[in-house]
Amino acid sequence: MTKIAVLVGSLRKESVNRKFAGALEKLAAGRMEFVYAELADLPHYNEDLWDNVPEAVTALKATIEAADAVLIVIPEYNRTYPGVIKDAIDWATRPWGKNSWAGKPVAITGTSPGVIGTAVAQHHLRTTMVTVGTAVMGQPELYYAYKPEHFGEDGAITDENTKTYLEGWVNSFADWIATTGK
Ligand SMILES: Cc1cc2nc3c(=O)[nH]c(=O)nc-3n(C[C@H](O)[C@H](O)[C@H](O)COP(=O)(O)O)c2cc1C
Repeated sequence: MTKIAVLVGSLRKESVNRKFAGALEKLAAGRMEFVYAELADLPHYNEDLWDNVPEAVTALKATIEAADAVLIVIPEYNRTYPGVIKDAIDWATRPWGKNSWAGKPVAITGTSPGVIGTAVAQHHLRTTMVTVGTAVMGQPELYYAYKPEHFGEDGAITDENTKTYLEGWVNSFADWIATTGK
C-alpha cells in the first residue's frame, strides 16, 4: 500500500478541500493509504523555536518522511495558497540539511466554489514545491470547481463524469509515484 501524507490547506471543520481530499481518498482506496498531517497547531515559522521544538513540527516532519508521496489540497486565498501551507513547507525544510521534502513525489490539487478552482494558488504552490526539492507532478492538473451535488452522503463522488475524471487523476498520481518515488 502506498502511503500518502496529505496536507489540507484549510483548517475549518466544513472545509470543501477536506471533503475533496476525502473523496480522492475513497477513489484511491485499496492502493493508497492517506495520512492527514495535523496543521492546526503549527506555529508560524520561528527559528528560535528549534531550541524547544513544538510537537506539531516534529509530527509534521515525521508524517512527510514516513510517506511515499505527498498530496497537497488547497483552497485559494487571495489568489495564492494559504499561510498555513507556507508554514508547513518552511518548517519541514529545516533544520538545515534535514529537509523532509527532499525527493518526495508531490501532487497538488484544490477546490473552490469559484470557476477557476484554485488554479492561481496551485501555480504559486507548484513553484515553491519545486524549490524545496520535491518531484511535483506537472500533468494532469486538477482544478476542481466545487459542486456539492457531486458528492453523496458518505462523501464519495456520485457524479459519473467527475468520478471518471478524478479516477484518471488518481491513476496518474500512482504512476507518478511509481516513476519518481524511491
Ligand atoms: C481569506 C480568503 C481569501 C479567498 N480568496 C479566494 C480566491 O482568491 N479565489 C477563490 O476562488 N476563492 C477565494 N476564497 C473563497 C474560498 O475559495 C472559499 O472560502 C472556500 O470554501 C475555502 O475552502 P475551504 O472550504 O476548504 O475552507 C477566499 C476565502 C478566504 C477566507
